[in-house]
Amino acid sequence: MQILSFKNYEQLSGYAADFIADSIKNKPNLVLCMASGSTPALTCDLLVQKLKEGQIDYSKITFLGLDEWVSLPPTNTGSCHYFFHKKIFEPLQLPSSQYFLFNALADDLKSECSKMDKVIADKRGIDLMIVGIGMNGHIGFNEPGTSFAALSHVAELDELTKSIGQKYFDGPVELGKGITIGFGHLMNTKKVFLMANGPKKAEVIKKTIEGPVAESFPASIMQKHPSSFILIDEAAASALSKN
Ligand code: PGA
Repeated sequence: MQILSFKNYEQLSGYAADFIADSIKNKPNLVLCMASGSTPALTCDLLVQKLKEGQIDYSKITFLGLDEWVSLPPTNTGSCHYFFHKKIFEPLQLPSSQYFLFNALADDLKSECSKMDKVIADKRGIDLMIVGIGMNGHIGFNEPGTSFAALSHVAELDELTKSIGQKYFDGPVELGKGITIGFGHLMNTKKVFLMANGPKKAEVIKKTIEGPVAESFPASIMQKHPSSFILIDEAAASALSKN
C-alpha cells in the first residue's frame, strides 16, 4: 500500500484524472470501475476534460459502476446512475455497450449480481478501481462485517450509511439496501486507488492505514492488496501518526 499525499482536493483529483487518462492511453480497452459520490466528483469532471482535450481514444474502455442504492430509479438525482450519466456517459457520449451499472429496480437482484460478476469475468478482471471511503470505513456498499472474499452482492445498509447517504438527495429518502461489487473483485483488481479529502475523513484514513486489517473495518483491506494507493489531501492526512 502506498500513500500519495496532496496539498488539496484539486491536486488530488487532478492526479487521479491524469492517471486514469494515461491508463486509457496505455491500455485502450481498460476496464475501469469507479465509485460515485462527493470524493470522485471532480476527478470525473477533469477526466472528461482530459479525454476530450487530449483526443484520447476511449471507444474501447469498459466502465463499471461500483454500486447503487436498491429501489431507487435512475432518474433520482441522488442515484449512482444519475451521477455517472451526468458526469461521464453524457459528456463522453459513451454508448451503453461500454458501461455496466447495477439495475437497482430489478425484481431479481441476485441475477443483477451474477450479471456483474459475469461481465467482470468476461473482461478478465478489472484493471483500475477508483473508490472513496465512508465514515464507517465502507467501500462501495461493502459495509462493516462484509467478507473480504465477497463478489457482487446485496447489502443491508449500516445506520451510518443510511443517515450520511441523505446528503446526496434533495429531500429525505428511505434507504435500506445497496447493491455493490464486492471485495473478491477488489482483491483481483490490478490497481486500486482509495481517495479521501477533508478533515471529516482524517479518522477513517488513520484506521485504514494504521489500524488492524479486519472485516469489521472494510477499508483496511487496502493493506492486503498488492497494488493499492491511498490518495489523501492534507486535511485527510492530519490524524496520521507520522504526519
Ligand atoms: P463521499 O462518499 O465520497 O460522498 O464522501 C464516500 C463513501 O461513502 O463511499
